[in-house]
Amino acid sequence: MALQIQLASADASSSVCDALIVGVCHGTVSNHPTVAALDKALGGALLEHIKAVEFEAKLDQALELPTLGRAKAKKLVLLGLGKPAELDAARLRASLAACVRANSGSSIRTLHLVLPEAELDYRAVGEAIALGAYRFNKYFTGERRPKSELTKVVVHPARGTSSAAHKKQLDLGVAIAAAVAIARDAVNEPPNVLTPEGLAEVARGIARKHKLKIKVLDKKGILAAGMNLHYAVGQGSENEPRFIHVSYVPKKKHKKIVFVGKGITFDSGGLCIKPAAGMGDMKSDMGGAAAVLGAIAAVATVRPDVEVHAIVAAAENMPDAAAYRPADIFTSLDGKTVEIVNTDAEGRLVLADALTYATRLKPDLIIDAATLTGAALVALGKTCSAFYATEDELARALERAARTAGEQFWRMPLIEELGEQLKSDVADLKHTADRWGGSISAALFLREFVGKFPWIHCDVAGPVLADRAKGMYPKGGTGHAVLTFLNFVEQAGRPSK
Ligand code: BES
Ligand code: MN
Ligand code: ZN
Repeated sequence: MALQIQLASADASSSVCDALIVGVCHGTVSNHPTVAALDKALGGALLEHIKAVEFEAKLDQALELPTLGRAKAKKLVLLGLGKPAELDAARLRASLAACVRANSGSSIRTLHLVLPEAELDYRAVGEAIALGAYRFNKYFTGERRPKSELTKVVVHPARGTSSAAHKKQLDLGVAIAAAVAIARDAVNEPPNVLTPEGLAEVARGIARKHKLKIKVLDKKGILAAGMNLHYAVGQGSENEPRFIHVSYVPKKKHKKIVFVGKGITFDSGGLCIKPAAGMGDMKSDMGGAAAVLGAIAAVATVRPDVEVHAIVAAAENMPDAAAYRPADIFTSLDGKTVEIVNTDAEGRLVLADALTYATRLKPDLIIDAATLTGAALVALGKTCSAFYATEDELARALERAARTAGEQFWRMPLIEELGEQLKSDVADLKHTADRWGGSISAALFLREFVGKFPWIHCDVAGPVLADRAKGMYPKGGTGHAVLTFLNFVEQAGRPSK
């Protein structure tokens, strides 16, 4: 059953529900009207307890109480949100989402949420609720199947009533979260289900829902188009490659942005096979593709005045009699020859052809997202993306977009010297350099295929898959980069910029 989200007026103290979350800002606990009303219902015990346990509503400080029949809500959760002046959209989203996630288990069907007394972004509230309620449980059967699920969330302002404009923003936030969920689901799906054709089906679903144009090339089409690098990576798999192009073309458009995503639905390493430990994580090697598909779904939801394309090079990297091998040479879509060094560096190959395709759309900007290198993880850890930009202004714009989204992106340098290693003795390029600066040399290889076009490369290898839940991210597929990319496009759509 789909989650229903309503907006009601302030008085929530007598709401009948499984859990009542009251968001409170630091220093306003005793003044909060809902806290006061609940305290009255509980005969003064609430404020007394708040004092006893030193609940001060610091950011993410939470206080959970069963009401034992003395209030209509079965459980009360006071959620500290810190100082009102510091409560920006990113903090609000992360905090609320984590709280909703913790309070939307199978025993909680209806949830009421009272907002704190502060200037609030209702879109972020909607995003937070739906992101927090997200679950990936379709493969559980029998005992492990959830007996019930969260079906209704009622949002209350701290005082007075909310406007229709607030409701619209709240609903928009919920719809944006659905786009993020597309990316999360795609990463969570097992690789026997989410094959390259499975990824194409995800894209078709988005195109159908938002009435976007879509083009999908199969194995033959990829070869006929001259995308030999993409073809080579997919040639060792029974699950044939797909090239996917979705476009959002509004009537008024200030800019044209082309997103390109690495869509390796499983990366075994190919003939240069990976060690068994952790190989299963390589189902997330389409995390970049998931991000760009989620992003175009989010863009189509918000409908800014920017033309946006999402291009995905999907393939499965497998060892096989037909697999490509080290020492093979292939001609890329733009005509450069590439000597294969290591079949596990497949991402940059499929991206090279997709980037060339992107340049043919003559965009104002190309942004790619790829789970490209282990080196990016070594450099920045599992929660932060490494990004590269050809222009400082673009880098600042991406940083701004990421800050609003509450996602971590750190700019890395394109160190020219490292590119010297990409010269091959037998072809124009070889596709890997040595270990040192591996994320940088991968970026430099990609740069060979973007021509003169402004370009941002995001190595999202770490954050698309989380080994624990934190803030707005659940464990597993996180949907990382979708909100950042959406914000980026919205910024570009504001004509003053
Ligand atoms: N998909 C991997 C990168 C990766 C590693 C993503 C760990 C997420 C977690 C990529 O295709 C890869 O195997 N890269 C190699 C490149 C090397 C062979 C030059 C790497 O990083 O080791
Ligand atoms: Mn690989
Ligand atoms: Zn890979």
